[in-house]
Amino acid sequence: MVKTVSISRTRLLSDLKPRRARTGSRLTQPDEGLGFQPLSPEDLPWVQTWTTQLRLPNPGSPRIRGFVLTKQGRRVGYLAARSTAFNTGQGREPVMWIVCAFLIPSCRGRGLLPRFCEMLSRAHFPAGKAAARIAADNAVMHRFMARGGWRQVRKTRRYTDYVLELLRPFAALKRG
Ligand SMILES: CC(C)(COP(=O)(O)OP(=O)(O)OC[C@H]1O[C@@H](n2cnc3c(N)ncnc32)[C@H](O)[C@@H]1OP(=O)(O)O)[C@@H](O)C(=O)NCCC(=O)NCCS
Repeated sequence: MVKTVSISRTRLLSDLKPRRARTGSRLTQPDEGLGFQPLSPEDLPWVQTWTTQLRLPNPGSPRIRGFVLTKQGRRVGYLAARSTAFNTGQGREPVMWIVCAFLIPSCRGRGLLPRFCEMLSRAHFPAGKAAARIAADNAVMHRFMARGGWRQVRKTRRYTDYVLELLRPFAALKRG
């Protein structure tokens, strides 16, 4: 996940403001009006402002499927992915490569990312392999990967590549 994962694999998903792992059992409330919508031209300036600030890949390629993440109808994040072939350690296989993901700062650290992933997976990617490249210093995303059952495919000093095989839609786990 990751300053970001990029399909070119030249950019990494990393975290600008690392935080410590939670020790409590806080879980966001089940109904917070979370939703998503496909990226539209009206969303582009907003998304680009954030991706530029976070040094994540800008949206633009028609091969990338981008979704704006919303909370009570307001934009709070963005997640983009594209289909590609990737060496999963078991040969080159089709995967959904996570290109970019972010939440606005006020929505981070509350477990919303897994819940958005669950909604998107149910609607658009119920099964198959997802892959992402996470920068070595992105502790939040490495925890996300570890807790979510992603498998490390390769690890360098700069990044780790992960693959997650979904036999059913991704599920946000309860914490605690
Ligand atoms: C990366 C980013 C989107 C993560 O969102 P976040 O709100 O910080 O993280 P969340 O709390 O929603 O999710 C991560 C948590 O989910 C947990 N998690 C992982 N899989 C889970 C699952 N299936 N179900 C429930 N929780 C899960 C992780 O343990 C982690 O919890 P922890 O921090 O308490 O250990 C956000 O920090 C961000 O926008 N950062 C800046 C941009 C960036 O670095 N983007 C990534 C590269 S594209």
